Amino acid sequence: MAQPKIIVLGNEKGGTGKSTVSMHLVVSYLASGHKVGSIDVDARQGTLTRYLENRSKTIASSGKALPMPKHRSLHTSKNTDHGQAEKEDYALVAETLQALEDCDVIIADTPGNNTSLSEALHTRADTLITPINDSFIDLDMLVRVEGEAHEILRPSVYAEMVWEQRKKRALRDRGSIDWIVLRNRLTMINAHNKGEVGRVLQALSKRIGFRLGEGFCERVIFKELFLSGLTVLDLEQMGTPLKISHIAARQELKTLVTMIHSEEKKPSPSS
Ligand SMILES: Nc1ncnc2c1ncn2[C@@H]1O[C@H](COP(=O)(O)OP(=O)(O)OP(=O)(O)O)[C@@H](O)[C@H]1O
Ligand SMILES: [Mg+2]
Repeated sequence: MAQPKIIVLGNEKGGTGKSTVSMHLVVSYLASGHKVGSIDVDARQGTLTRYLENRSKTIASSGKALPMPKHRSLHTSKNTDHGQAEKEDYALVAETLQALEDCDVIIADTPGNNTSLSEALHTRADTLITPINDSFIDLDMLVRVEGEAHEILRPSVYAEMVWEQRKKRALRDRGSIDWIVLRNRLTMINAHNKGEVGRVLQALSKRIGFRLGEGFCERVIFKELFLSGLTVLDLEQMGTPLKISHIAARQELKTLVTMIHSEEKKPSPSS
């Protein structure tokens, strides 16, 4: 049986859209008929878990047969021995992935800080997606940029962590982690700054090895359906008419899913 594709949403900065993109990817894959596993590695905050609980309530109250993923919420080990806690966290991730191995795709939402659970998921990722907001503050999460000329100084702690996980992954099963950086909450405001961030990201993508996604705009539809557990992809089934902005939001999601799979068609360097 084919292994599920593991897609991890990660960065080490809060509030950039990891949970939002996770939920929308979960529903995108469900909508295209895939069997989906979802993992909330951020059980303390539990955004993805609550999103899905809200969805279950909507299914119960509306009677609509909306598709649901097979969901797991992970709590970090409370063992006071640091080394032991780390081992337990790695074991929990391995067990969880095994429990979801009948899925076509697994989407994991990780917290905005470094934990061993999050690291364990990063090292198992086939695709890592890092949403960032379009500013130099968020860019700092990937790389140190300085001065008027926005000179790139060195990779950040997170970029180094991804590098480490890529090495571990290559050693373990010769697999590779396809890293996609996705600009999120794009607006028309501050167009110059946006251009500059884009320029630095382009330069950076070659240097630290990620692909730059087209990104998601700032859209009400990406946030307003949390309490009902729905997404823009569920509107027709719920009998809600589509607006132009909804179609644009769907297109952004479709572009991301196409990008996730575009690497698969390329021959590997050794073949
Ligand atoms: N494209 C978007 N358009 C509008 N609102 C958005 C968009 N993406 C995210 N948001 C909103 O931004 C906020 C932060 O998003 P989210 O919770 O997904 O971030 P996160 O990276 O998971 O945060 P944390 O690190 O705290 O887990 C939420 O209120 C969410 O609704
Ligand atoms: Mg989150």
